[in-house]
Amino acid sequence: QAFFRPILSAAPPSPTKRHTKISVIGAGNVGMAIAQTILTQDLADELALVDAKSDKLRGEMLDLRHAAAFLPRTKITADVDYAITAGSDLCIVTAGARQMPGETRLNLLQRNVSLYRAIIPPLVKYSPETILLIVSNPVDILTYVAWKLSGFPSNRVIGSGTNLDSSRFRFLIADHLDVNAQDVQAYIIGEHGDSSVALWSSISVGGVPILSFLDKQEIAYEKETLENIHKEVIDGAYEVIRLKGYTSWAIGYSVANLARTLLRDQRRIHPVSVIAKGFYGIEGGDVFLSLPAQLGRSGVLGIANVHLNNEETQRLKASAATISELTSQLEI
Ligand code: NAI
Ligand code: 2OP
Repeated sequence: QAFFRPILSAAPPSPTKRHTKISVIGAGNVGMAIAQTILTQDLADELALVDAKSDKLRGEMLDLRHAAAFLPRTKITADVDYAITAGSDLCIVTAGARQMPGETRLNLLQRNVSLYRAIIPPLVKYSPETILLIVSNPVDILTYVAWKLSGFPSNRVIGSGTNLDSSRFRFLIADHLDVNAQDVQAYIIGEHGDSSVALWSSISVGGVPILSFLDKQEIAYEKETLENIHKEVIDGAYEVIRLKGYTSWAIGYSVANLARTLLRDQRRIHPVSVIAKGFYGIEGGDVFLSLPAQLGRSGVLGIANVHLNNEETQRLKASAATISELTSQLEI
């Protein structure tokens, strides 16, 4: 017996109402930070969680369900079986080994490539039209691995990349200038990791290009100051890992931000890991790294043509070479 009796003959569901389903693979620190941000920001009608540890997974699912009275209505499911992900619009993959204090992201490669062989094929089987959003590290190389294993067109395989590094960068610049980070337009591109590239020449605050403003006002700034801010971005994750063991909140917000742009067709530009060959002078084999990409409901729509000076171009090519060397050694 239904709790409510219909007042008229039951209306058919509206054909225009979209049911949005997001799956998160890996219910660890990162997966759960992403899941909870997606719930609080009302980004999905259905959220499916998958992990290899069934008790932990069920515990996380129940804990989130128990917040139902305080959240927008979302159906939350969880299972070790990938059938639960069927029909997902977006699959976010966070499963995998994470860094120990002091360990680099690249060091995780072999362990996480093996896991991806077990994760990507069932996701593709159950959601052949999905967008894959890769988060596990090293994210650029695993995005390439996911692309290869999935057989998807490259516009539907995206790595969270330097969307997070760029947020760290914007925070540090905003803190330095005592402004709001949302008014700082600044990109870190290249590898999500040690060889990332800061695009100083294109930074603006409230539409004002920062370097030329400082030059015109004859305000002295040292290249070393700029390098130190970039170094702080690179060291930021290492510091958080040393202090609390892992990073979670910022990547949770970063990925929810990407999910919103993709699923709501916002067409915003995000620095994310995409296939880079042919852009910004990057040649050679297929390599994924972060470039300013326009995202929408069908995934990557295009790459923005941000001006890079010579030094930035050289650094980006060096970052691509670092990733490319490791990618070319992979057997998938
Ligand atoms: P965690 O150890 O807390 O969680 C990993 C989860 O993956 C565990 O719950 C584990 O049971 C699950 N898992 C392992 N193998 C699996 C399989 N075959 N199928 C399903 N689930 C499986 O680690 P944490 O802190 O959540 O980090 C996850 C990954 O995210 C790491 O690779 C980390 O480096 C990366 N990461 C990436 C960031 C980025 O900006 N791209 C930011 C922060 C972390
Ligand atoms: C981060 O940058 C560790 O890749 C992870 O937070």
